[in-house]
Amino acid sequence: MMVTRVATVAFQGIEAVPVDVQVNITPGLPKIILVGLPDKAVNESGERVRAALIASGLGIPAKRIIVNLAPADLPKEGSHYDLPIALGIMAAIGAMPRDALDNYLALGELGLDGRLAHVGGILPAAIAAQSRGLGLICSAPSGAEAAWAGEDLDIIAAESLLALVNHLTGHQLAMQPKPLKYLPNGALPDLVDVRGQQVARRALEVAAAGGHNMLMIGPPGSGKSMLAARLPSILPPLNPRELLDISMIQSIAGELVNGALSDRRPFRAPHHSASMAALVGGGLRVRPGEVSLAHNGVLFLDELPEFAPSVLDSLRQPLEAGETVIARANARVSYPSRVQLIAAMNPCKCGMAGTPGHSCKRGKACADDYQARVSGPFLDRIDIRIDVPAVTAADMIAPAGQAESSVTVAERVARARDRQRQRFAEHGAPDIFTNAAAGSALIEAVVNPDRESQALLLQAAERFHLSARAYHRVLKVARTLADLAGVDKVGRPHIAEALSYRLNLGVA
Ligand SMILES: Nc1ncnc2c1ncn2[C@@H]1O[C@H](COP(=O)(O)OP(=O)(O)OP(=O)(O)O)[C@@H](O)[C@H]1O
Ligand SMILES: [Mg+2]
Repeated sequence: MMVTRVATVAFQGIEAVPVDVQVNITPGLPKIILVGLPDKAVNESGERVRAALIASGLGIPAKRIIVNLAPADLPKEGSHYDLPIALGIMAAIGAMPRDALDNYLALGELGLDGRLAHVGGILPAAIAAQSRGLGLICSAPSGAEAAWAGEDLDIIAAESLLALVNHLTGHQLAMQPKPLKYLPNGALPDLVDVRGQQVARRALEVAAAGGHNMLMIGPPGSGKSMLAARLPSILPPLNPRELLDISMIQSIAGELVNGALSDRRPFRAPHHSASMAALVGGGLRVRPGEVSLAHNGVLFLDELPEFAPSVLDSLRQPLEAGETVIARANARVSYPSRVQLIAAMNPCKCGMAGTPGHSCKRGKACADDYQARVSGPFLDRIDIRIDVPAVTAADMIAPAGQAESSVTVAERVARARDRQRQRFAEHGAPDIFTNAAAGSALIEAVVNPDRESQALLLQAAERFHLSARAYHRVLKVARTLADLAGVDKVGRPHIAEALSYRLNLGVA
């Protein structure tokens, strides 16, 4: 009995796990039978492959074709098995030399006309092929993305099944694709547009410098959304390691546009009607959610209390662990999700509580009910909480262009981040780039507050009943404040400012 084999992959999180497509043709009723834990999309593969083979003029034998996806206990999802299945059948019927596929890993979706279509996960698959010493067979639109895996990766990126056969039989060679340059980075909204709001500007800079989570509370039109939209303009570009991680996630989610990568930090702003699946991932097909697509960047939740409370609480685990775990009936996958959370909200439903001269129709309940929609444990994960009051008339009529621009702020942020990265490398943690990302033991090791600051911390911890998490988060922000100031030692003013950001809204 002859069995042909074609190498492909299954995705578990951002990992591409080896899968073997085994094809065996036996006498019997003409039918393609798929075995090996395929999901619905994979099961439909049989029909697409049959139509594509016929449309390509390759025909399909009137026999029983058994396709096994091995290992059988690994769940298989998605449409990328079309191509390896078609190739396996073609090799089995002698449409190409049997050994033509030995040194390749293949993935791609087939149209009924035999065209090859792009699928998610090309980048991790290409890296997996590279590390196994194999080449990659994929669709033409996937070529540029695959090329990021390295110049020495042998890539066959074909328009159609027929073009692929012609290449493999040596009739017409496809070109080796080249990686596309980074996406052109257009101009971002600039901080120069923001008038007044000195406290908020300072807080935004601190948040950017240390990667801290931040919540802005203020009346409508005070500039909260405006400030948040300007955070990307002061964040440093992704380093190569961060770039690779986020690109893998974007690849799996099918969000890499034409295979072009960008070294700009992700900024994701899901609408408050977003479902839990959209935010943390999962759903019918396991897919990274917004919190993973924001990995190494910013997750911005505008109008925070308008999100469903259950949806917000599902973010608690990823925010703490920097990773999202999705449990399925037969699998458990995880995606990296180290994000900087930025949130904005009005103080109450009518939006004006706390504004001088205003009193809500419903009194204190207006603010209480609204704020209660955000749970305590969720708030506990937010290090910097600030009031953003309405812009004063004096600030508003001042001439435009007076405020500091983003370039200047970005330089200070970059210097503070360099100090953090260097320090963590010296402490044996080269994978930690920001104070926010450091674990509690590590942060204690790098802060060592002087006696005065310790006294202040102790006093605050007792008086405001700081949780252990809150205590470490205050240390982290204080470390960032010292880094922004360019000093090695964390002193009392840093601790005091860090505490003020945490306690300012009356919740610790
Ligand atoms: N500090 C500011 N400097 C300059 N313009 C401002 C400022 N604050 C607000 N604006 C103007 O007001 C508009 C609305 O601001 P923005 O959307 O940021 O308010 P918001 O605080 O998010 O309000 P809401 O609570 O209703 O969402 C901005 O697009 C901008 O034109
Ligand atoms: Mg807004």
